[in-house]
Amino acid sequence: MPVKNRFAELLPEIMEWRHDFHRHPEILYEVHRTAGIVAEKLREFGCDEVVEGVGRTGVVGVIKGNGSGTRVIGLRADMDALPIHEQSGVDFASQTPGAMHACGHDGHTAILLGAAKYLSETRNFGGTVVLLFQPAEEGGAGGQAMVEDGVMERWGIEEVYGLHNAPGVPVGVIATRPGPLMASSDEFEIVVTGKGGHAAEPHEAIDTTLAAAQVVVTLNTIVSRSVDPLKRVVLTVGTFKTDSGASNIIAHTATLTGTVRTLDPDMRKLMEERVRRVAEDTASAFGATAEVHWDPGYPVTVNDADATAHAVDAARAVAAHVEDNADPIMPSEDFSYMLEARPGAYIFLGNGDTQMCHHPKYVFDDEAIPYGCSFFAELVERRLNAR
Ligand code: NI
Repeated sequence: MPVKNRFAELLPEIMEWRHDFHRHPEILYEVHRTAGIVAEKLREFGCDEVVEGVGRTGVVGVIKGNGSGTRVIGLRADMDALPIHEQSGVDFASQTPGAMHACGHDGHTAILLGAAKYLSETRNFGGTVVLLFQPAEEGGAGGQAMVEDGVMERWGIEEVYGLHNAPGVPVGVIATRPGPLMASSDEFEIVVTGKGGHAAEPHEAIDTTLAAAQVVVTLNTIVSRSVDPLKRVVLTVGTFKTDSGASNIIAHTATLTGTVRTLDPDMRKLMEERVRRVAEDTASAFGATAEVHWDPGYPVTVNDADATAHAVDAARAVAAHVEDNADPIMPSEDFSYMLEARPGAYIFLGNGDTQMCHHPKYVFDDEAIPYGCSFFAELVERRLNAR
């Protein structure tokens, strides 16, 4: 079965919204213009309730179905852009220097608006759909802000679904999997302190650079020696800076920063414990000290098995092909906070052969829009008992 005909008709209009969002990208929580347009359109469509300022600058829309049934499901889109200078060459390119919709969130927002317009018109379901337009997916944890603002309880949401475009996956293909789909992302900073001194008199100093270098080497043994080989974990030390300003000075402090990614929530705790222990004890062997600051980031994005089955059923009805056991990927995603709060599923929507997300020449493919809209609409009509 192909995409819903209504979305083929609506495509020019939905593309216009998308191109307008694309011309006016907004970063993190500063999505005031975008959120204002979203709220205005939801009211225009006749949504039963529209609330702005949820999770700071998020928007919630509510659509009640005509059928019987009391189930409530949430559909989520992200609205924010990235601090990247656009080089895509499209004729509706960003008019804001240094900001660009380089992750396709303009497309996600337009897709959910398109689905909202259709669902408000048809209401061919029982129960309630809650539309969640969130700010600050790109590093600001806007999804967490929405959850902490009480969206799940306030609107009685029982399940949540979301989608992200996927460069490299053909347009018309939907891919997902039950269980972990995207990694958690935690960051650490380690400050190693020895004793600065003259390069010619190392015995009078404690060589911080050498101690910190050994910390880097030993950190890189954690994944190979402390982690079950069947688990997926990545540790990378990204920066190494010392306070020595010359070749003949032994540094007094060195600062390392890095990231830990994993698909297994239990591994996050293990990695934090091991990083602390390895850094402190390795530095100590050199007479130095290490202070570890751990900064937990986005959790693992974990798809609920039942919800994924519902998402796959809906996808099969509208997509050209469905991959229901796709490989997980190691980037992270703050829809994970919503999936921690409620069972649900996240799907990848094929975006064709384009540059990867976050690249200045990335282009969202408008041809993916009808598939995304149809997926959401079909999911609602199936899950909320229209058939
Ligand atoms: Ni994104």
